[in-house]
Amino acid sequence: MVIFICHSCSNENVETYVPTPSPLQIPPLFENNILNPITPTNNPQTEEGIALGKKLFFDPILSGDNSQACANCHNPKNAFTDPKRFSDGINGSLGNRNSMPLFNLAWNYEEKFFWDGSVFSLEHQVFEPVSDPTEMASNWTQLEAELQQHPEYPDLFEKAFGTSTIDSNLVAKAIAQFERTLISSNSKFDRHLLGEAELTPEELNGFNVFMDENRGDCFHCHGSDKNPLWTDNIFHNNGLDENFSDLGLGAVTGDPADNGKFKTPSLRNLAFTAPYMHDGRFATIDEVIDHYSEGLKNSSTIDPLMKKVAQGGVGLSEKDKTDLKSFLLSLSDHEFINNSAFNNQ
Ligand code: HEC
Ligand code: HEC
Repeated sequence: MVIFICHSCSNENVETYVPTPSPLQIPPLFENNILNPITPTNNPQTEEGIALGKKLFFDPILSGDNSQACANCHNPKNAFTDPKRFSDGINGSLGNRNSMPLFNLAWNYEEKFFWDGSVFSLEHQVFEPVSDPTEMASNWTQLEAELQQHPEYPDLFEKAFGTSTIDSNLVAKAIAQFERTLISSNSKFDRHLLGEAELTPEELNGFNVFMDENRGDCFHCHGSDKNPLWTDNIFHNNGLDENFSDLGLGAVTGDPADNGKFKTPSLRNLAFTAPYMHDGRFATIDEVIDHYSEGLKNSSTIDPLMKKVAQGGVGLSEKDKTDLKSFLLSLSDHEFINNSAFNNQ
């Protein structure tokens, strides 16, 4: 939108772009069940900011040798994660953690991002991969200069932020605005809650297994029909290891009581996000269910909610395992991964 503002009201009119507000569209199930999303007052959502953030997210210009975009490790078809266990950085270097899917990030009330919570806002997060030597391995001075010389970017920054002088904070703001629009709320289970789809008897039994403290007992950490996020966004040790090669939250807080704790991932979109866990150790949902059923490992920081660790797990019947998997898959949102607003086409 172009607005003519009379600055001094004496001689000339200066043409200034005022970006068009574009508040997040809150889905009905979110509105009724959880708090409002977090959007920082110094970075309001605007059409121009979101469009710029999307372009940057898919642009390999952000990496040191212009070969890798955010989208390389956060692919829309995989609900914005990477099907590889460990993503390739630009030099072929591998990290030691599985990439994370990106959706419903504005509802991360803890505002602790990464598997270990080491990053405190979406705006801050952008700084990590760009300069991480195992990821995009760029440097911000070089990147700012490249963007400044680009035929399109200065104009797009002008439209989004009222300045064509590009700096890293504005890059981060634009990308964060795009990320906040990645809302997933149209799974079969969502439609069931809205009365628009019917679950199969298997999916319904699976949901009951999930909610039943004497069977799956999953809901404490992963949410329920009252929590459309399907995560508590808190850190737990869910019994993967006796000894930790990656300390997770413990390495961030320095408190040994936090060793082996990682952020609970959302159970939405599992159909697209394999492999699973912070190190991608499980290739299938069946392996995950076997872990909780009979594969739990005890350790000093095991979560008290892993109540059956002494027996190795919750011990599900074969039928309950199959039905639990059907229920988990009903949380996948096919519309989300095909949404053209989120794709690079
Ligand atoms: C080389 C692969 C790679 C690239 C490129 C990459 N990421 Fe990531 N991303 C990861 C990995 C791996 C994690 C998990 C990191 C950890 O826990 O240590 C992650 C985590 C995240 C998270 C945290 C999500 C959450 O729920 O906590 C966000 C947000 C994110 N990335 C956004 C981006 C953006 C924006 C870019 C581009 C500027 C980007 N990533 C580039 C691999 C990558
Ligand atoms: C004590 C809290 C807690 C309980 C109870 C719990 N989980 Fe988890 N879950 C977690 C945490 C934390 C992770 C991530 C652990 C990691 O990567 O180190 C996780 C990871 C997962 C993942 C992998 C998702 C991904 O994207 O990588 C699935 C699937 C899963 N849990 C399903 C279940 C099911 C099914 C149950 C019940 C049988 C259950 N969880 C019970 C905390 C819990």
